[in-house]
Amino acid sequence: MLTAYDYPSARLVAEAGIDLILVGDSLGMVVLGYESTVPVTMDEMVHHTKAARRGAREAFLIGDLPFLSCGTPEQGLAAAARLMKEGGADSVKLEGGAEVVPVVEALVRAGVPVLGHVGLTPQTASALGGYRLQGKDAANARRILDGAVALERAGCWGVVLELVPAPLARLITARIGIPTIGIGAGPSCDGQVLVFHDLVGLYAGFTPSFVKRYAEAGATIRDAVARYAAEVRDGSFPGEGKSFGISDEVLKELQGA
Ligand code: KIV
Repeated sequence: MLTAYDYPSARLVAEAGIDLILVGDSLGMVVLGYESTVPVTMDEMVHHTKAARRGAREAFLIGDLPFLSCGTPEQGLAAAARLMKEGGADSVKLEGGAEVVPVVEALVRAGVPVLGHVGLTPQTASALGGYRLQGKDAANARRILDGAVALERAGCWGVVLELVPAPLARLITARIGIPTIGIGAGPSCDGQVLVFHDLVGLYAGFTPSFVKRYAEAGATIRDAVARYAAEVRDGSFPGEGKSFGISDEVLKELQGA
């Protein structure tokens, strides 16, 4: 699984053969420049989900429910309706463990495929002490495990495990029957997810240590733009073959006028 937030990124991700595309609310940070995912609105999620869908028409597309969009089952149903009916998502993801079970149950009852998300839940990171490893002590590890079990029972088709110790992710993966998708959770999860901009080197902000950069697209783009600017300034762009002519006849007529 990989995130994508617009037409070109979704298209590239689909063409590269990724199985699942997540229009994550991480778009708030990597695309919109917010400090966290908290300010992301439903309108922003729908806007980006629509664009990603246009770039990846055949993909299994998951839309993220933003912070406080689904506090009650009724709100969850309304938010999921927007992501699926307007945005074109096939499924929704929501953050939280046992506490979000009533919302998950209502969505599943209504026929909405739901992906859960436990461990570090960025929307409530401030309540968890910041962006840090979760489940280090027995009580917290138990809460995360119980949350994953509760999400499976509530009908989620899978669960994201974010920033938890690898042995805990291994234990949860063995304990539940639905796929686990890890991010900063080690190699034993059934699948992995990363943020597109982290993977290709396009995000200028903090990059967590568990991320692997497979490209330096930011540097490549900066270099291309700098060369363009230099060539415009020295007159070598637009050069040969990059502009259009007009017939001598037309030109003469204009010059004579
Ligand atoms: O918003 C997001 O991109 C996510 C993934 C990192 C799992 O929640």
